Amino acid sequence: MNQKAFIFDLDGVIVDTAKYHFLAWQKLAQQLGIDFTPEHNEELKGVSRVRSLEIILALGNIAASQEDKEIWLKQKNDEYLSYLVTMDESEVLPGVLPVLDYLKQHQQKIVLGSASKNARPILEKAKVIDYFDAVVDGNDVTNAKPDPEVFLQGAKKVHFPNEKCIVFEDSVAGIQAANSAGMTSVGIGEENILHEAHFVFSDFTFIDLNFIQNLINK
Ligand code: BG6
Ligand code: MG
Repeated sequence: MNQKAFIFDLDGVIVDTAKYHFLAWQKLAQQLGIDFTPEHNEELKGVSRVRSLEIILALGNIAASQEDKEIWLKQKNDEYLSYLVTMDESEVLPGVLPVLDYLKQHQQKIVLGSASKNARPILEKAKVIDYFDAVVDGNDVTNAKPDPEVFLQGAKKVHFPNEKCIVFEDSVAGIQAANSAGMTSVGIGEENILHEAHFVFSDFTFIDLNFIQNLINK
């Protein structure tokens, strides 16, 4: 039987939470007098919370104490979590469930590879946690994407060699991480942003199940 490990990023791939990260960072940036645009936000996608704050502070040329940074990190996360209080399965992005169902029916491994420390409660709220054979998240890794650590750990957890892993990612950092792990990368988003990916789709509704089957057969 052909078997592959399909590794999914979370925010902006499985669930529509990337917009909430953006809103929460934008609120903090405004408070600090920093102009923070959707273009700047692309640099934050897939990047850890701590690293994201550093990028924003650098944008505003702000040198902050460790104490201030801790306060702002908590503030951002509290704001982000406030958007998730009422979260349910309606936040699962269109086209994702048919792909997960197909993979399950065809005995493929399904793994989460996310930088988020909030990944598990989000998977539970979105009612998709049972699909996953393994979860690697921001609590498990020391090196953030574009370092491949999160995906390497995921492959290890399901005992698959890297070349038999396929990664779905909406961030440039995540595509770079997948590529440097020697995995197949599938970008979810804009072609001009994710041009380093092996394949790019605007969203999961554009992914034909024949495409998935070809990845399984490869
Ligand atoms: C990634 C997001 O999945 O997780 C980033 O793309 C986010 O925007 C990162 O900063 C860390 O998430 P969290 O939930 O631990 O703050
Ligand atoms: Mg993402």
